[in-house]
Amino acid sequence: MLRATGLTRRYGGVTALSEVDIALRPGEVHAVVGENGAGKSTLVKILSGVLRPDAGVLSGFDGVALVAQELTVFPDLTVAENLFPLAPPRRGPLVSRRRMAQLAVPVLGELGLTVPLDTPAGTLSLADQQLLEIGRALLRNPSVLILDEPTSALPAEAVARLMAVLRRLVSRGVAVLYVSHFLEEVLRIASRITVLRDGHVVLAGVDVQSVNLDGVVEAMLGDRVVASVASRPAPRSRPPAVVVEEPAFAVGEGEIVGLAGLQGAGHLEVLAALSGRAPGHGRVHIGGRPAPRSVRAAVRAGIAFVPSDRKRYGLMLDKPLWQNTSAVAWLGAGHGGWWLRRRAHGAAARALITRLRIRGAPDDLVNTLSGGNQQKVVFAKWLEANPRLLVLDDPTRGVDVGARAEMHAVIASLADAGKPVVLASTDLAELCELCDRVLVFQRGRVVARLTRAELSERALSVAMNAGT
Ligand SMILES: Nc1ncnc2c1ncn2[C@@H]1O[C@H](COP(=O)(O)OP(=O)(O)OP(=O)(O)O)[C@@H](O)[C@H]1O
Ligand SMILES: [Mg+2]
Repeated sequence: MLRATGLTRRYGGVTALSEVDIALRPGEVHAVVGENGAGKSTLVKILSGVLRPDAGVLSGFDGVALVAQELTVFPDLTVAENLFPLAPPRRGPLVSRRRMAQLAVPVLGELGLTVPLDTPAGTLSLADQQLLEIGRALLRNPSVLILDEPTSALPAEAVARLMAVLRRLVSRGVAVLYVSHFLEEVLRIASRITVLRDGHVVLAGVDVQSVNLDGVVEAMLGDRVVASVASRPAPRSRPPAVVVEEPAFAVGEGEIVGLAGLQGAGHLEVLAALSGRAPGHGRVHIGGRPAPRSVRAAVRAGIAFVPSDRKRYGLMLDKPLWQNTSAVAWLGAGHGGWWLRRRAHGAAARALITRLRIRGAPDDLVNTLSGGNQQKVVFAKWLEANPRLLVLDDPTRGVDVGARAEMHAVIASLADAGKPVVLASTDLAELCELCDRVLVFQRGRVVARLTRAELSERALSVAMNAGT
């Protein structure tokens, strides 16, 4: 048995973790869930020795490998170099590429990552980087494996492979601690569950058989009400706001169109073209004009792009929250003195903090926020800016159930106000909840078009995999 008792950790005035006790058993998956900012990442960093607690005792936490929530893959190193960062296998004084491949290929194969080992890691998709991160932890043969949101960017088939890997590990006696916002996934894989709220344990290692989804959500959120997306008006034909020639489709004003596909299916290239990151691709027109040819031009044209890879595209991490939320609106806000504007933006940031339940203050640096709260900031900055088109790629990545519902309600209300929305998501439930229709891609072509009446996770999965 591995035990942690009385773990407490403060950041300045904020108590991230307070008197937390947790016990892990070898040979089982123990899930830890909680709202964004509840203290999950702080807990797993302490358990894996990355962070020192202010108080508390650990016993038995040896041989721990951590799959961190924020990817630690080095983009400039190859896949192989990332897998063996400290002690690459050697033959004599030389690093043995053969031995590296012998060790790495089976592990990566199990996870479904089949890229050449000399691929620069920075060129991999976010999903593949996440798999690489998991592969690196597995290669250390840990006796305790801790995974913090390992599937936030993974498509369903990769999640299934990871679950199979975890089952095999626990059958060999490994203790697994699993942090995730996908609560159904958690209830399927875990045998026990701990719920954190505001840094405290509110449900301590209970048997998953004795809880259900609603009970877990209630424990997480307390008596907060979860928003629901009002049933959207029946789709009717609307003037096209976005026209894509290749593959041919249009998005009407006020319409939410989902793009789905397996990795490499070509749907994400459309998002890139819409948001100025792949100029010329697909011959895209927005409001009758060619799509912008740079990210900057896209921002100026009022195209809201919410990426899943927030570190790369979405945030100024070393700037305060209020500067991030006002970054877009700022471009159009030329009135008043600096101080006036700063006050106005501070007030706006406070309103967004309340609306999206962001755990943080306007002056907090974004890199001190928890992962899910950072994602909310990426989304929030566009709410201030009155965008003309929303381009969303896994917009609720790492966001808790309460805030996810809140963000969904906001997206639906923007569509109701006439904004066109293009949404890609690895979370098929998200597509089903929000979209008026979903286009399914394979090899750059649209192979199925599902109307709202036809939409289900199963129908999507069948269409995405058909013929492959
Ligand atoms: N380096 C830091 N400096 C200041 N505050 C921090 C720092 N890291 C975390 N915090 C604060 O500690 C609290 C807990 O954060 P933590 O990252 O553990 O949350 P979490 O449960 O993992 O959330 P999420 O689901 O969003 O990943 C948050 O309020 C966060 O703002
Ligand atoms: Mg976290």
